[in-house]
Amino acid sequence: MILKKTILTYGTFDMFHIGHLRLLERLSALGDRLIVGVSTDEFNAIKGKKTLIPYDQRAAIVRAIKGVDLVIPENTWEQKPQDIKNYHVDAFAMGDDWAGKFDFLKEFCEVIYLPRTEDISSTELKKALDAFLLENSIEL
Ligand code: CTP
Repeated sequence: MILKKTILTYGTFDMFHIGHLRLLERLSALGDRLIVGVSTDEFNAIKGKKTLIPYDQRAAIVRAIKGVDLVIPENTWEQKPQDIKNYHVDAFAMGDDWAGKFDFLKEFCEVIYLPRTEDISSTELKKALDAFLLENSIEL
């Protein structure tokens, strides 16, 4: 029997950008199956995060990325151990803005933090969009 390595990650993936793409590419290269938990709009509201793009569209974009095998909704902070068990996850991985924050999952699987791509984030894109609209006197 050939054992396959399953990787699990979570994120909001609003205004999908090159940092997201690079992270998913590197995660896909770490194993044989990549599962991505995309934060729902309701969960983002709990986190105090407002997205420009609704959950269904963010999930559809992530699902369409080469190397992503399955997208699941991320509804709560607490679901990770259960997801790791349900999907027989071997490694949980996130960008290193989360370094150390998920070490408690080491009792369930390997925990990996990957370097972020510099100088881009959804937050920065939103700021740039605000500035662009202002500069060009565009009202939405
Ligand atoms: N990520 C990355 N490089 C970036 C931005 C994000 O590797 N430049 C990674 C994060 O570390 C995370 C995943 O992409 O593992 C999803 O991150 P998310 O929070 O959705 O993206 P951000 O652009 O960081 O969003 P925000 O500005 O709202 O925090």
